Amino acid sequence: MIKTLKRSVAIASGKGGVGKTTFSINLAIALAQAGNRVLYFDGDLGLANAQIGFNCQADKNFSSVLSGEASIEDILVDTGYGVTLVPGASGEGELAALDYFRSSVVVQAFSQLEEQFDFLLVDCAAGISPTVMAFLKGCQQRIIVGTQDMTSVADAYATIKVMVKEQQLQNIYFVPNCVKDERAGLTLFDSLNSIVKKFLFTELGYLGTVTMDPAINTSWRRGTPIVELAPNSLIASNYRSIASNLLSAQPNLELDGAASRFFSNWG
Ligand SMILES: Nc1ncnc2c1ncn2[C@@H]1O[C@H](COP(=O)(O)OP(=O)(O)OP(=O)(O)O)[C@@H](O)[C@H]1O
Ligand SMILES: [Mg+2]
Repeated sequence: MIKTLKRSVAIASGKGGVGKTTFSINLAIALAQAGNRVLYFDGDLGLANAQIGFNCQADKNFSSVLSGEASIEDILVDTGYGVTLVPGASGEGELAALDYFRSSVVVQAFSQLEEQFDFLLVDCAAGISPTVMAFLKGCQQRIIVGTQDMTSVADAYATIKVMVKEQQLQNIYFVPNCVKDERAGLTLFDSLNSIVKKFLFTELGYLGTVTMDPAINTSWRRGTPIVELAPNSLIASNYRSIASNLLSAQPNLELDGAASRFFSNWG
């Protein structure tokens, strides 16, 4: 029987290089290991690097879909980890800013896949460009990844502020990354959440913490995600625990103001 409940989750950060792609890849695999059919959209259309993390080749990428040369089915890549990748448009600068017309092409392309997957994860580019905001708005749930670095915290807050104040979005989670242990992650989460409560009058959801692990660099070099390379490591259990908490954290779509469903048929 085809499952009808679809989940769409966008992953962003504000500041670049804080670990969004590493997080998204390992979360995707952990969700697949839990029995979900996962579609991973490399939404970093300027600097697509999910293919490197999954160590898979893509002959075509999303630019072919936007130009009408290929259908989305033509460009799908089986990563071998139970996750299907929609490759971004690497190195094509002008694609970094999707205009409105192209956005509607994206909506149509993704609606064709709705029966085949349970989860859509969108790994966004750094910053708060209109494209990133469209992805955050278009998904049912938003995960902001951040480290203890002050500029990461400031940029995470700035991203959350735009989502809440300008777009009336809720269903926002913050995942601390690269911290010493869960306690340090909770401290980071609480400090950001208390600012959000005080100034934005809403609360962030907590799904768990990702600890710092130097083996992540080895996993990138080898092209083997850490949940596969070191399944018994603490960091792998962090990702599995976050996947399990995300599975239980059903989005409350009524809380999202006038949010248009960018991936309209997902949810
Ligand atoms: N938990 C972690 N422990 C140690 N290193 C990490 C961890 N998470 C990410 N890194 C490292 O941080 C660097 C940036 O990671 P990643 O490419 O995932 O960030 P990003 O936010 O997607 O970057 P960009 O903004 O360029 O898209 C990489 O070198 C990665 O190995
Ligand atoms: Mg990235």
